[in-house]
Amino acid sequence: MFKAITVTCILALLVEVHTLDNGLALTPPMGWMAWERFRCNVDCENDPDNCISESLFTTMSDLLVSEGYADLGYKVVSLDDCWLANERDAEGKLQPDPLRFPSGLKALGDYIHAKGLLFGMYEDYGNYTCAGYPGILGHLEVDANTFAEWGVDYLKLDGCYADPVEMDIGYPEFGQYLNATKRSMVYSCSWPDYQRELGIIPDWESIIKTCNLWRNFDDIQDSWASVTSILDYYADNQDSIIPNAGPGHWNDPDMLIIGNFGLSYDQAKAQMALWAIMAAPLIMSNDLRNMDPKFKAILQNKEIIAVDQDVLGIQGRRLSKEHGIEIWTRPISPTEENFYSYAVAILSRRDDGMPYKVPITLSKYGMTYSLGYKVTDLYEGIVLGEFDPDAEFSVFVNPSGVVVLRCDLIF
Ligand code: GLA
Repeated sequence: MFKAITVTCILALLVEVHTLDNGLALTPPMGWMAWERFRCNVDCENDPDNCISESLFTTMSDLLVSEGYADLGYKVVSLDDCWLANERDAEGKLQPDPLRFPSGLKALGDYIHAKGLLFGMYEDYGNYTCAGYPGILGHLEVDANTFAEWGVDYLKLDGCYADPVEMDIGYPEFGQYLNATKRSMVYSCSWPDYQRELGIIPDWESIIKTCNLWRNFDDIQDSWASVTSILDYYADNQDSIIPNAGPGHWNDPDMLIIGNFGLSYDQAKAQMALWAIMAAPLIMSNDLRNMDPKFKAILQNKEIIAVDQDVLGIQGRRLSKEHGIEIWTRPISPTEENFYSYAVAILSRRDDGMPYKVPITLSKYGMTYSLGYKVTDLYEGIVLGEFDPDAEFSVFVNPSGVVVLRCDLIF
């Protein structure tokens, strides 16, 4: 009898390990995360307004709601590194830094939930987080339970101070403990990125089954060079990357840095547009207290968000790169028979000082629906017209800027 129960339990465990079907993240997650903008600033004594503390997260939660971001879908408020105390508590549980999070994380989760938002958490699979705070290795079960008790809805699990080879076992194992809590938590993994750095080919089948999203490449930094290096990585590897994305499981090119110091207005429009083409999570890392209205309008562009959140969940690709002009397309709804509507981003990587004229023929981008397409410029908010697949028209793209067209099938 005991043996039979044990075998049944092990089988149940194995079955669960191999099926992530938590019903979450059917479209790419949206929200706000501390890391890119606020880093590991723990100096609350001298910099109380910008340090990693509970007031930073309650303030950003308030602003997500009052400034209209939450209504557009930006719902996850996520801690990143440096929230932890240096030691676990007497019972071996994780605990936040007591001075910076005096109310505790259950209270912070309650605050976020009361605003109608979701609570995002950060930890690391290894012995330490990347900034050197306690990691979860050796404590997987207790930590999964702690996150559930705190009301966590979204967990980013980093991979510093861990052996990337062991992640093939470790990330699914922790996913199993998350599932066992019975609390629905979006699971964001850094597993394939750490393996890529070592030249290991990731086990995509397992990653897709285990994680709702995953990092593929380097951390984003506050510069156009960083944004374009990420775009190049995704485009250069698109044949192996794109097929892994779909409802419930997304590639994550990292945070939106729009509204910070490093991107011009045109570059910010380009990041937003290309992230939407890539079906990327839209996780802002910026200071919502000081948002220039121009940048806020980019982040709140409903039409671009709708492309990102398209229900088909097909990740777009770079079709061409010529004279510093890149054409990126993403199949979106509505569809008719085997024909898709498309979002098209015309991206300029040029720096020659004036808008560049780009001729366009939709059939060259794979759009061959005989009744044609209604074409809208999403940033300008104007319908350019209805075009047959072979019709020619042109757009002007600013240096390091973008034009985004939505091409809807005409019924
Ligand atoms: C890694 C991650 C980043 C961030 C830092 C925190 O570099 O990739 O996104 O979480 O750790 O230390």
